[in-house]
Amino acid sequence: MHAINAEQITSLALRLKTETASEHERMHQLMNAADVFANSEVYGQFTLSQYYFQKEIEYLFELDGVAALIPDLEIRGRSTQALLDLTDLNIQPAGTHLQSKNASLTQALGWIYVSEGSTLGAAFLFKQAQKRLGYSADFAARNLAAYPEGRAIVWKRFVQALDQANLNQEQQDQVVQGALDAFAYFGNALIGLNQLK
Ligand code: HEM
Repeated sequence: MHAINAEQITSLALRLKTETASEHERMHQLMNAADVFANSEVYGQFTLSQYYFQKEIEYLFELDGVAALIPDLEIRGRSTQALLDLTDLNIQPAGTHLQSKNASLTQALGWIYVSEGSTLGAAFLFKQAQKRLGYSADFAARNLAAYPEGRAIVWKRFVQALDQANLNQEQQDQVVQGALDAFAYFGNALIGLNQLK
């Protein structure tokens, strides 16, 4: 008889979406609570959190094996844009923390998933930054702007790369764990937004 092989049919991208859905929902709640577009001070702290998060992510780009699985890393990552935004806002980051330093290759994929996925939600945030604070892709909100190719195309290509990595169940579990770690990291950043330096 042909038993269904769960390892072959489970899409990693689908697992990530499903198994981190409650964390994503928690991000919405934290974003609402932080009200990051209330004024330029809160927005500045939020941009600082984005900058540090992107530094974590770009550190992971350098990890052995990541570039082989995600071939277009050079177009990803937004720390440069976030730093320019901080400059616009007269904020100088005090330093980087690098909490993702001990992540394995598979966990790194989960962290990067959270960062890339957040570019989809950023479409909504970008509009808010424009509407409520008058910021733009040229001033203070560069890090929320779409990739030049467009958000959807770049996201689709990322999800395909994840699925084409052909990871087994155990490796996929580690990717999901990495994503949960990244959500926890960003959640903590949002909770402690006003202490961020
Ligand atoms: C108010 C804030 C946010 C809003 C309104 C929002 C909204 C969205 C939307 C509309 C999507 C696309 C859903 C789809 O096409 O199926 C999305 C996807 C995603 N967002 Fe958010 N988001 C927010 C915050 C965040 C944050 C802070 C993070 C992480 C740090 C995040 C991570 C993700 C991820 C990983 C996905 C991809 C889900 C998938 O696998 O398809 N989001 N978000």
